[in-house]
Amino acid sequence: MGVGEPDGMAYPGVVNALSEQAAMPENRGYSDNGLPEFKEAVAQYMARVYGVDLDPASEITHAVGAKNALAFLPTCFINPGDAVITTAPGYPVLGTHCRWYGGDVYTLPLLEENAYLPDLSSLTDEQLAKAKILLFNYPNNPTGAVATPEFFEEVVAFAKQHKLLVVQDAAYAALVFEGQPLSFLSIPGAKEVGVEIHSMSKAFNMTGWRLAWICGNELAVRAFADTKDNFDSGQFKAIQMASTYALQHPEITEEIADKYNRRLAMLADALSTMGFEAKKPAASFFLYVRAPRGVVGGQRFDTGEDFSQFLIREKLICAVPWDDAGAYIRFSVTFQAASLEEEKDIVREIGARLSDVPFEF
Ligand SMILES: Cc1ncc(COP(=O)(O)O)c(C=O)c1O
Repeated sequence: MGVGEPDGMAYPGVVNALSEQAAMPENRGYSDNGLPEFKEAVAQYMARVYGVDLDPASEITHAVGAKNALAFLPTCFINPGDAVITTAPGYPVLGTHCRWYGGDVYTLPLLEENAYLPDLSSLTDEQLAKAKILLFNYPNNPTGAVATPEFFEEVVAFAKQHKLLVVQDAAYAALVFEGQPLSFLSIPGAKEVGVEIHSMSKAFNMTGWRLAWICGNELAVRAFADTKDNFDSGQFKAIQMASTYALQHPEITEEIADKYNRRLAMLADALSTMGFEAKKPAASFFLYVRAPRGVVGGQRFDTGEDFSQFLIREKLICAVPWDDAGAYIRFSVTFQAASLEEEKDIVREIGARLSDVPFEF
């Protein structure tokens, strides 16, 4: 299991659906741009969970994971000299592919004082003239921050004004702990300027199954589908059908979200006791905390990287460093634990391993 990857717990109904569907000869062939059954299930799910109406035939297409969707999008839109605007810290895949096509990547820092929302007004006219894609990811990896409807409204107006395609990476969208999950596409006008990418990986614990979808603006979805069709031949139909079953069972996501919420609360408490400024996020499974400056009378941590090295080498605790906007590390509560007691034991163990270190903040 990778750091930050869901804990692999499988839901029996989904596994049974996969097993049945895998045995069917009609599911053996290429699926190219996806099964109508899956798109229909996505449309119903988007309406039920996010209040967003989508035409399954023209406004939804599947992808072999959100990562692939992010990787393929620059192929559709980026020529040498174009640019992508993205946030830092952030998931790097779309920006990486943009560079490979000769484009630039402009980053907007995500700062605690702005509730980890970017300041669009900091972009220059020159940057805006070159930019074609505005990429967001809310709920955000690694900060765990959620967007607000007001921020998304600002984004819609900004994208219209500067002729940008908004790509909202909603990989964690359903894993919220307070209130309803928010889709960018629920904002009036959003479909005119953007697409949203959703994934089965986090909200249904189906990381390795590799299924996601892109939805929203019809032209952008079509451009994506035409491109994707030339890269892959679609996800195994049985996985799409099993995911159709999963999408009809949102209680799976509720259970997963409850688990992360509970674990994040325990971890935030444990870290706070040691002096960290650890606030449970409103979504995701990440706890993003500022690295200490060092150990009293001992080692200094100039970066999140320094601190993460200390954690792994001295304490055998694995966390991911982020140094794009200050020295931070990201804990993840995706560890494997079979019971509530085991969850408590793991968090207690993290506390015990750090309790003898006088951190300086
Ligand atoms: C922000 C973000 N987007 C996309 C992905 C990839 O999701 P998928 O498993 O659907 O490829 C991840 C996975 O870690 C992620 O953190």
